[in-house]
Amino acid sequence: MSIKTENDKRKVTTYRLKEMKERGEKISMLTAYDYSMASIIDQAGMDVILVGDSASNVMAGNTTTLPMTLDQIIYHGSSVMKAVKHALVVVDMPFGTCSGNPFKSLEAAIRIMRETGADTLKIEGGEEIITDIKMIIDAGIPVMGHLGLMPQSINKYGTYTVRAKEQAEAEKLISDALLLEKVGCYAITFEKIPAKLAGEITSKLTIPTIGIGAGPNVDGQVLVMHDMLGLTKGFSPKFLRRYADLHTTIFEAVSSYIKDIKSADFPNENESYH
Ligand code: KIV
Repeated sequence: MSIKTENDKRKVTTYRLKEMKERGEKISMLTAYDYSMASIIDQAGMDVILVGDSASNVMAGNTTTLPMTLDQIIYHGSSVMKAVKHALVVVDMPFGTCSGNPFKSLEAAIRIMRETGADTLKIEGGEEIITDIKMIIDAGIPVMGHLGLMPQSINKYGTYTVRAKEQAEAEKLISDALLLEKVGCYAITFEKIPAKLAGEITSKLTIPTIGIGAGPNVDGQVLVMHDMLGLTKGFSPKFLRRYADLHTTIFEAVSSYIKDIKSADFPNENESYH
């Protein structure tokens, strides 16, 4: 049996995540979309880096994740991959690239894996696209499922509120999670579901569960990097804990830079070539 210590420099794999669940070690996961930030996050010791389609919101300024294309996620994924030495890198399959045509889904999955060099993919959805997910896994590509609030289906639901509060939706979520485990997903992300339900499903599954707004009784936690670093303003869901206020830090630094240019204080003698 291999034991991971806090100073473990080995590359994180899907196998390691399962070991972490088995010994009760929580899994850390955070999004990244570019080389510089991925490098810092990896050096800090993150277990999993998600190249999320939330890039559509926080990098491209869209109101939903739907505009994200295959080419765009490949651009973000390959930038992140150049930086990461330790973390497991997961890339989201964007909206419309895995939606009921298994051969086309497999083609898109292979493109992401081949052109980014990522370790695994994440796919939103359960039973409705299970044939697609199974074909991708059977081709040797590890898949993390994503259930609960699925931002790619926002137009179907019309709201970003907590999911699976009603019994019927909770039962469907449990059966989808068991199905994803059965076809070979190595982990599942649960977004915005009641903590009790997330805990119940986690104890039924042998694969790790990662929560965002799913309470503490899951095997790991994920947040969107821009939100946890306080780069985004005006987005304050209950589940979000901010670890920095980079919006203020950057605003103040940029304001000082402008002031120094305007007052001819920058550059000074020491900052000039002679
Ligand atoms: O795209 C993303 O950032 C995600 C997380 C919210 C889990 O899927």
